[in-house]
Amino acid sequence: MCGIAGYVGRRRAIEVVFDQLKRLEYRGYDSAGIAFVQENEIQVVKRAGKLSALTSVFGSDSPEVQMAIGHSRWATHGEPNDTNAHPHFDQHEQVAIIHNGIIENYQELKDSLVAEGHRFLSDTDTEVAAHLIGRAYTEGVPLEDAVRKTLARLRGAYALVVVSKREPGKIVVARNASPLVLGVGEGESFLASDIPALLPYTREVIALKDGHMAVLEENQVRIWDFDGTPTPLEIMHIDWDIEAAQKGGYEHFMLKEIHEQPEVVRQCLAGRLDEKNALRLDQVFNETVWNEVERVTLVACGTSYHAGLIGKYLFEQLLRLPTDVFYSSEFRYGDPVLSPRTLAVMISQSGETADTLAALKLCKERRIRTLGIVNVIGSSIARDCDRVLITQAGPEISVASTKAYTAQVLSLMLLVLHVAQVREMPGVHVGDVVRALQQFDGLLARTIETEPEIIKVAEEMQNAPLVFFLGRGIDAAVALEGALKMKEIAYLPTQECPAGEMKHGPLALIEKGVWAVVGSSDAKMRPKLVSNVREIQARGGRVVMIAPESDQTLDSVADVLIKTPSTPYEYLNALLTVPVLQLLAYHTARLRGEEIDQPRNLAKSVTVE
Ligand code: F6R
Repeated sequence: MCGIAGYVGRRRAIEVVFDQLKRLEYRGYDSAGIAFVQENEIQVVKRAGKLSALTSVFGSDSPEVQMAIGHSRWATHGEPNDTNAHPHFDQHEQVAIIHNGIIENYQELKDSLVAEGHRFLSDTDTEVAAHLIGRAYTEGVPLEDAVRKTLARLRGAYALVVVSKREPGKIVVARNASPLVLGVGEGESFLASDIPALLPYTREVIALKDGHMAVLEENQVRIWDFDGTPTPLEIMHIDWDIEAAQKGGYEHFMLKEIHEQPEVVRQCLAGRLDEKNALRLDQVFNETVWNEVERVTLVACGTSYHAGLIGKYLFEQLLRLPTDVFYSSEFRYGDPVLSPRTLAVMISQSGETADTLAALKLCKERRIRTLGIVNVIGSSIARDCDRVLITQAGPEISVASTKAYTAQVLSLMLLVLHVAQVREMPGVHVGDVVRALQQFDGLLARTIETEPEIIKVAEEMQNAPLVFFLGRGIDAAVALEGALKMKEIAYLPTQECPAGEMKHGPLALIEKGVWAVVGSSDAKMRPKLVSNVREIQARGGRVVMIAPESDQTLDSVADVLIKTPSTPYEYLNALLTVPVLQLLAYHTARLRGEEIDQPRNLAKSVTVE
């Protein structure tokens, strides 16, 4: 989820591109770079760190060129440093490219190029694409043909932007499942990863479709599909203001990020499944280590801790590996029992949470193997763990975490399935689960379509004195996350516990006006859950249930029933209930008029213990 910018026309291109990148800063980044053609050579300048580190190279006097492309990077392959920053050159510095996304087959392509004598400077997948385009860009071939030829060899999700020294007035772009928008001006053309970067210059915008490529020149934009068939330009007029545009037209970042989750699923799986439905998690430990591990200790805070609870369920149910989950803030002071055969897994969106870092330090002092499940590459936890699995959810801006949780749970699933594959666990059919995962983005999108029903529930619930969040088995873990979302943004008091615990105390709080939100992902838990629901209703409580659409038994039980798509796996069904809980908290907060993206008393990254 990097920032991409580009310009060709009569203005000072470098200044336009810097301004565009600045407008994409809200997405977060770790390095930035720019390419332009001057005196028949491509100049590439790139710097790790903030955009100002790059702009200060030019001061107030940038070269007067009419075409430039720029990139702000959110690293996925290779550390954030000057070398790995984009743009990247081909072997002979004839072309320079920037890229957002992941080229899944980059290693095999790189191996074959190395065998031919190509030398690579960076650790990125992008440089491989640059070398392939450069190789195809032989005498007399237009740049777009060299790009098209290369696209046929790339697997994965990408937005590519390519310039060459031979055709300095031309930018070639291609899109496959990574966002790219084009701006059409008078005698000038623009490109960006996101609409806000275009709006100060033009409101005539083309959203490039997957499987399409375009050529941008001063006076024209042309589009083709990857097979070379020309496609008409579909220009939209955008009248959003800039702030609304940053939120993709959504009222809040939280809502945007909830809606981004199908895309997050695709990103998180990208590069990790092979054609035979096996998992490839090259960045985690090898087989010897997995056969040695006897106990897993998951450590995290808040929402990440809740993801850890699902992790425990998966490690124990699928791998029969004893697993503990600790709050990071408790771990260090609890003198935890750790042995050389323990694997400690630190889960953190930001990778900077002080309590989790302190827990990691303790594990290192005790010489325990550590694995980070982290969203921000290059963050302290990502750097300090022995191994790291990046969740690939992209920058999360809303303080209340949504898409990062989904990516954490999904990453834990991939990890557990990977170990099941290594340990050859009987009864776990990894290929079947992977097939279900490949459909999962679509299922999540269908869940999000229940939003109008959720709004109706929020309308009724908004003034409730108390909302219970309940479930059994895996749904009890998901309930905790639903309750946290409701507390932190809608400020409604909540009580959360396994549904079976109600009769041991909390039932005393049920009276007319109190609501219960009950997840029911797991068919084998359902008969007992129904009894728990009846007990609440008998005391005047109202119950909204969330269940897979394959179930018919709850239609006459719930006061309100929200149906989600079904899968054969209760842990996937449970993850499908999550957007419902997130949207319920969001709409309740909105109806109550609360500030949503920056809720009171909370910060995005908690760097104090
Ligand atoms: C809640 C939320 C927090 C974080 C917690 C840990 O919506 O965002 O509870 O989950 O502060 O943060 P990370 O994951 O960055 O370590």
